[in-house]
Amino acid sequence: MEEIVRVENLRKWFPVRMGFWETLLTRRQLFVRAVDGISFEIKKAEIFGLAGESGSGKTTTGRLVLKLIDPTSGRIFFEGRDLAPLSEKEMKPVRKRMQIVFQDPYESLNPRMTIADIMAEPLRIQKIGSEEEIEKRVHQALENVQLVPPEEFLFRFPHELSGGQRQRVATGRALVLDPSFIVADEPVSMLDVSIRAEVLNLMVELVRKFGVSFLYITHDLALARHICDRIAIMYLGKIMEKGTAEQVILEPLHPYTQALISAVPVPDPESARVEVIIKGEIPSPINPPPGCRFHTRCPVVVGEICRTKEPQLVDVGNGHMVACHLYPGK
Ligand SMILES: Nc1ncnc2c1ncn2[C@@H]1O[C@H](COP(=O)(O)OP(=O)(O)OP(=O)(O)O)[C@@H](O)[C@H]1O
Ligand SMILES: [Mg+2]
Repeated sequence: MEEIVRVENLRKWFPVRMGFWETLLTRRQLFVRAVDGISFEIKKAEIFGLAGESGSGKTTTGRLVLKLIDPTSGRIFFEGRDLAPLSEKEMKPVRKRMQIVFQDPYESLNPRMTIADIMAEPLRIQKIGSEEEIEKRVHQALENVQLVPPEEFLFRFPHELSGGQRQRVATGRALVLDPSFIVADEPVSMLDVSIRAEVLNLMVELVRKFGVSFLYITHDLALARHICDRIAIMYLGKIMEKGTAEQVILEPLHPYTQALISAVPVPDPESARVEVIIKGEIPSPINPPPGCRFHTRCPVVVGEICRTKEPQLVDVGNGHMVACHLYPGK
C-alpha cells in the first residue's frame, strides 16, 4: 500500500529556558525531550492513532509531521518527499495536501468571520477558483459535514453554533482543499461526551469517503480501537507499542499499554483485560529514566536490564511491535 507519511528516528528536544542562577548552577543547557527517536509510517487512506498519557509527545509529533515545527533530528517524508530541505515557499503546495483539526474549535475558528468565509479562506489563500466556484465548494463542504441546508449556516458566526457544529465546520474546512492527509489532535475531547462519537464518526466517514490518511491523536483508547486501523502508544517521547488496533487494544503486550487499557473502560468483551495499575507520576522528560523509560513505574520489571538497556521496538509477529525486554522478538 502506498505511503503518505514516513517518519524516521524523529526527535524534538525543546531547550529549557532557564534563569541566570539556574544556568550558572547547572552549567549546561537542559532539554525537554518531547519526542525522542520515533519511527512510523501512515499509509494511504489509513487511520493511524497516536495515544499515550499527557506529555508523552503526541501533539509535538503531529506538529512535526506537518512541519509546523522543525525536528531536532530525524526525517519526515510526505508523499515520498523529504520535508526538511523545503522552504516555506516550497511548502505552500505541500501544505494544501496536509491539514489539521484542532482540539478546540472555538479557538481555531476566527470569531469575527462568518462560516462562509471560514470555509472559503483556505481556497482564497491558495487562490483556487473563481468566487462562484468557491461558493459552490463551500456549499458542498457544508453538506458533507451535514450542516444543512447550507444557507442556514453560511452567514452565522462561530459563537452562534454549538460545539459539535463548530467542529463540523473545522472538519469541512480541513477537507475543502482535497487534502491527502489530516492530523486531528484530540478533535472531540472538548465536546460534550454525548456527541463525541457522533462528531468523530462523521469525521471518519468523510476521511474514508475521500480516501484521506488520518493521524488521530487521542487519550481515548476505546474510541481509538473503534476507528483506527493501526495505533502507536507513546510514553515519554518514545513509541512503546505499535500494531493494528486489534493487536494493541485487544492483545496489549507492553506493561504500559496494559496499564493504560486497564485504566479506561473499553466496552469490548473480547479484550484480554489485565488489571495493571500504573504507580507514580510520569517522570520528567528533561531527564528520562535510563534503560526502559517505563521501568520506574513498571509492575513487571524483568531485572537489571530494564534499568540499563533501552529496549528496541521488535516485531513479535504479524507486524505487532513492542519495545520491552519481556519480548526479545523474532
Ligand atoms: N514549545 C515547547 N517548549 C517546551 N516544551 C514543550 C513545548 N511543547 C511541548 N513541550 C513539552 O514536551 C512534552 C510533550 O508535549 P506534548 O504537547 O507533545 O504532549 P502530548 O502527548 O500532546 O500531551 P497532552 O496529552 O497533554 O496533549 C511535554 O513535557 C511538554 O511540556
Ligand atoms: Mg497534546
